[in-house]
Amino acid sequence: MISAATLSDLSVLELAEPRPRGFVRRDVAPARPAPEPAPGPSPLLQIRGVTLEYRTPQRVVRATHRIDLDIHAADRFVLLGPSGCGKSTLLKAAAGFITPVEGSITLAGAPVRAPGPDRIVVFQEFDQLPPWKTVAQNVAFPLRAAKALGRREAQERARHYIDKVGLTPFADSYPHQLSGGMKQRVAIARALAMQPRVLMMDEPFAALDALTRRRMQEELLALWDEARFTLLFVTHSIEEALVVGNRVALLSPHPGRVRAEFNSHAFDLSSIGSEAFQAAVQRLHARLFDTDAPAEAAR
Ligand SMILES: Nc1ncnc2c1ncn2[C@@H]1O[C@H](COP(=O)(O)OP(=O)(O)OP(=O)(O)O)[C@@H](O)[C@H]1O
Ligand SMILES: [Mg+2]
Repeated sequence: MISAATLSDLSVLELAEPRPRGFVRRDVAPARPAPEPAPGPSPLLQIRGVTLEYRTPQRVVRATHRIDLDIHAADRFVLLGPSGCGKSTLLKAAAGFITPVEGSITLAGAPVRAPGPDRIVVFQEFDQLPPWKTVAQNVAFPLRAAKALGRREAQERARHYIDKVGLTPFADSYPHQLSGGMKQRVAIARALAMQPRVLMMDEPFAALDALTRRRMQEELLALWDEARFTLLFVTHSIEEALVVGNRVALLSPHPGRVRAEFNSHAFDLSSIGSEAFQAAVQRLHARLFDTDAPAEAAR
């Protein structure tokens, strides 16, 4: 648990201030400490002045406006913001599906120009699995398609990750025989099996009931503990952002701009309900909705 004093140290980086290059975390007795950033100033995923637009025959929709973010290796980086602020669009751009009209996105210094097996996205929809493939085939298929592994190695790796998400008894089941949460776990296993440099998740638990959602957050954190992958995670739940992330970028309403960044590595599932956690939720809430923060509660 963190002290109340810690909360005022949440490292809010105001939008008006220039964002420091090579963001340095202030670790405060982290429950799940992320490794120190690699030496040197370069983040793994660097988003610089990124403006994203959709062009329809009638008009141009600006989804994000000049976003700057630095995501370091092994970060659990959360994009938090209201509906329509461009979270999914930004994720798709980082994955290489959308090209910025302004600014740049680089992965380990190389420009992101197209999707690649080093950036795998788990979408919110449950129906992202080919229904004619079993769980095991669904997880193994992309490994083979990307020519990453031979049949046997692909099967072995698929089994490993299916086990990690607790679905070994269902390895030979088809998607229609699974619940929504189980299908989502298959999608997560499939993404993890690719061992991407960055795992991107777009509100992956939003449609789950509260209990399953909590369990999935727990599983994701346990998997991260083990594999220390880099996570870019979208949510509009403040609690989920604090639990899942070690850093949270708060986006303003449409078009999305970075309003503030918070360090949240001191929180995990066991923090929920604590005074410090509730104060952090309130503070983020106030930032998100531009209301007066009941900041006194934090002091
Ligand atoms: N294919 C599209 N064509 C035109 N406009 C789009 C398209 N997709 C999204 N938009 C617009 O871009 C903006 C950002 O959308 P986006 O889906 O990225 O928001 P979001 O933050 O992910 O919202 P939510 O939390 O509801 O998923 C919105 O105004 C949306 O209407
Ligand atoms: Mg979205």
